[in-house]
Amino acid sequence: MRIVLVGPPGAGKGTQAAFLAKNLAIPHISTGDLFRANISQQTELGKLAKSYMDKGELVPDEVTIAMAKDRMEQPDAENGFLLDGFPRNVSQAEALDEMLNTEGMKLDAVLDLEVPEDEVVKRIAGRRICRNDSAHVFHVSYKAPKQEGVCDVCGGELYQRDDDSEETVRTRLEVYHTQTEPIIDYYMAQGLVVTIPALGKVEEVTARSMEALAREDA
Ligand code: AP5
Ligand code: MG
Repeated sequence: MRIVLVGPPGAGKGTQAAFLAKNLAIPHISTGDLFRANISQQTELGKLAKSYMDKGELVPDEVTIAMAKDRMEQPDAENGFLLDGFPRNVSQAEALDEMLNTEGMKLDAVLDLEVPEDEVVKRIAGRRICRNDSAHVFHVSYKAPKQEGVCDVCGGELYQRDDDSEETVRTRLEVYHTQTEPIIDYYMAQGLVVTIPALGKVEEVTARSMEALAREDA
């Protein structure tokens, strides 16, 4: 399946993507994670991306689309993928459609994770991520690690993302409303959007998403 996950910062896209990708045996492709990997490897792309990410703004389309395309062309994505954080504006959505059309492929579903704004602010404020693997995500109260600052899965150091400061989160939310939300209408017109209420336990949200995908696939 080819799936797009959309939702505001902190909605739980990365958290859900980890479970959904495993259940569906497709790779989880997060443009945010790809940028963060470039930042930690100190590549030119990483330096450029950081200058936008630290302000909560979108990285320019040209580099983002090229990076996403390159990742989607890897052999493990041949039979499908779960996109998290891409596309993030209408021109990226158009570029993705063009890319898929050229290959005679199409998206199967767009899952829109719906979470009230006060909840996403709480989720982001308490989020802690493992330095070894960005799929190991914790929360100081909702999913506290057994030992503070240490990843339960691999013992790695837990850290708070640079763009999770209160001020940057405000910009990221504004960017989401103005630039990313319009892709929901874009995909509505293609009949692809399924809204997933994303409050509640992580496994409940995963179950709702899997049920929705089974309906779309039928
Ligand atoms: P990106 O990394 O995509 O960040 P984001 O969209 O802001 O989303 P987050 O990763 O913050 O949240 P999430 O929805 O993944 O939530 P999570 O699962 O971690 O992008 C970062 C930046 O990169 C952008 O600002 C931009 O600069 C750049 N960028 C990326 N893609 C781009 C693109 N296509 N174009 C241009 N620029 C791009 O969960 C959050 C917390 O909540 C965690 O602590 C988790 O444990 C907890 N949680 C999750 N689910 C639940 C639950 N059900 N109940 C309680 N707690 C929960
Ligand atoms: Mg994420």
